[in-house]
Amino acid sequence: MIPELLETKGKNTKEYWEQVRRPEIQRLFEKWVYGVTPKEPLEEINAQILNTELLENGRVKKEEVLLELKRNGKVCGFRCRLFLPADLKKPAPAIIMLNPFSRNKKLDYPGKEMDHMPYDLITSQGYIGIHADVDELCADDPDLYQEGLWELYPGRAEDSWGAIGMWAFAGSRVVDYLQMRQDMNCDKLAVCGCSRAGKAALWCGAQDQRISLVISNVSGCTGAAITRGKTGEHVIDITTKFPHWLCKNYASFSHREEELPVDQHMLLALCAPRPLYVSSASEDVWADPHSEFLAAQMAEPAYKLYGKQGLKECEFPRENQPIKNGCVGYHNRQGVHGCRRYDWEQYLLFIKQYFK
Ligand code: GCU
Repeated sequence: MIPELLETKGKNTKEYWEQVRRPEIQRLFEKWVYGVTPKEPLEEINAQILNTELLENGRVKKEEVLLELKRNGKVCGFRCRLFLPADLKKPAPAIIMLNPFSRNKKLDYPGKEMDHMPYDLITSQGYIGIHADVDELCADDPDLYQEGLWELYPGRAEDSWGAIGMWAFAGSRVVDYLQMRQDMNCDKLAVCGCSRAGKAALWCGAQDQRISLVISNVSGCTGAAITRGKTGEHVIDITTKFPHWLCKNYASFSHREEELPVDQHMLLALCAPRPLYVSSASEDVWADPHSEFLAAQMAEPAYKLYGKQGLKECEFPRENQPIKNGCVGYHNRQGVHGCRRYDWEQYLLFIKQYFK
């Protein structure tokens, strides 16, 4: 049985959701899935612009920025590449693309760099694109992930965070930085991620209300897909192959997924009432497009509390037939796992309804 999103009859109000149920669901995800995000603040965040250049015949300004985080006498940092329309006249909305693929030379991007962060497309529509190399804070490696950010917040518990939690945390630190700048419209910030980064983007958006729109690209297992009954990857696969991604408690559900106190529609619901876009790829059975669509549909009751429409009334769409008219959008791109220009074209159309 998939757990109920709103379990309390008669208490289904916006207020009850915000004050009781929402924080309760967030705590369940912390304890059993992603691990606890430390609440103690950093002592300092320093930003240093390392390099600036013009691209696309002067239409795009690229800034490479190093963000350094400091706590308990330890420092760690990560780089972000900001792509701004060169003729920016007023603060613009920004899209943060979490990138945990920068140190992983074997894997590379699941797609080419311009597919993963098509800054020409993004800036031509007046937005700022930010490619955040979050794996510089926490390596995507079971032997190395406890170097860097982990040392600022050490932990040894069964519910201590893993790489996905740390990448999500890094997304929020990018938001901290954007709030210090004059050229960002911080009422209009989106976070996006592909695959493992899609899981992190969802977790980041779920926790950080300053993010106003959340996008998940082929995030699959422990991302947008309902765990119970999905095809492809399961708790046992993800926790065996990537033991550093999630908290230790999660692995204990390997042979008893039915007993998980949550399922992934509850993660998506934590984004409500903010716009959410989930996308799949038709040949990606490992992630499972149907289960991603199902979770997006099942997040609807949280949106309904705000009088907003999700995907409840929609059928699973045919390939390349995006659904963008509600507050929860979805498409199933024809093809294999990864992030493609087609995906971005749909995200930007969805975003436009809220950011223009
Ligand atoms: C593996 C993993 C997935 C993950 C994907 C990726 O396939 O099993 O959970 O989403 O890598 O990040 O590309």
